[in-house]
Amino acid sequence: MNQTSLNPTEPAIVVDRLSVHYGDVTALDSVSVTVNRGQICGLIGVNGSGKSTLFKCLMGLVNAQQGSLALFGRSSTAARKGRLVAYVPQSEDVDWNFPVSVGDVVLMGRYAHMGPLRHPSRADRAAVDHALERVGLTGLRNRPIGELSGGQKKRTFVARGIAQEAQLLLLDEPFAGVDKVSEATIVELLHDLKGEGRTVLVSTHDLAGLPQLCDSAILLHQRILAEGTPAKVLTHENLARAFGPGSPPVPAATPSATPIAPGA
Ligand SMILES: Nc1ncnc2c1ncn2[C@@H]1O[C@H](COP(=O)(O)OP(=O)(O)O)[C@@H](O)[C@H]1O
Ligand SMILES: [Mg+2]
Repeated sequence: MNQTSLNPTEPAIVVDRLSVHYGDVTALDSVSVTVNRGQICGLIGVNGSGKSTLFKCLMGLVNAQQGSLALFGRSSTAARKGRLVAYVPQSEDVDWNFPVSVGDVVLMGRYAHMGPLRHPSRADRAAVDHALERVGLTGLRNRPIGELSGGQKKRTFVARGIAQEAQLLLLDEPFAGVDKVSEATIVELLHDLKGEGRTVLVSTHDLAGLPQLCDSAILLHQRILAEGTPAKVLTHENLARAFGPGSPPVPAATPSATPIAPGA
């Protein structure tokens, strides 16, 4: 099974009435969402609203007690084996003391492409070079991952997803604690990846940046509170329901991020 056998009519993500409980805590309560291919979808909600749990379910790291999900019409396991999906965990979920270099982290994205002995081929090395270049980290290839800034760490994981040539990228709070350069690099990359037909699900607390970043948005609070275009989701009523009193302001309407033609 590989990427070339993808059925073009299957959405990238279909989640159907998914419920997850950790003991007495309900993290997801009958969540149903669809993310169509070739778009950037923003996942928003307060801390504890279930965003990371949803990512972990999509990656098969957490098992739901109820409901089902499909990635490109396949099980999570099949999608991962077919190297269709790449995951950038939130920083808290990564052991940064693990003694591994930036280049090694990116090379991990190639493991599924390698033979059983995991000996990197010339193509694997070229894919790592290319991915590091795209995130602007070529010079840091041999640096231990733990020595990088927050933003550089995120860019390293995004590079791993690029090297993997994944069709779906799951990014859990890639902008949390990152510098402006890293943020701008990641935003530009996500738009480029979308331009290549890839699908991105990204959780973020940056509501103001959502209309420029995303084609669609999902507002989560254990349940789905709203889903659709950023303008449809980011209403005062919805934000008040999700964030309670003192909810963030509705971002000002922005024109769509159409590039200005040269000479215009
Ligand atoms: N491994 C776990 N064990 C117990 N409770 C958990 C675990 N992971 C998350 N939770 C709880 O599940 C809820 C959703 O958490 P999470 O998915 O991390 O939300 P978010 O990413 O939106 O902050 C929270 O109440 C959190 O405390
Ligand atoms: Mg989280």
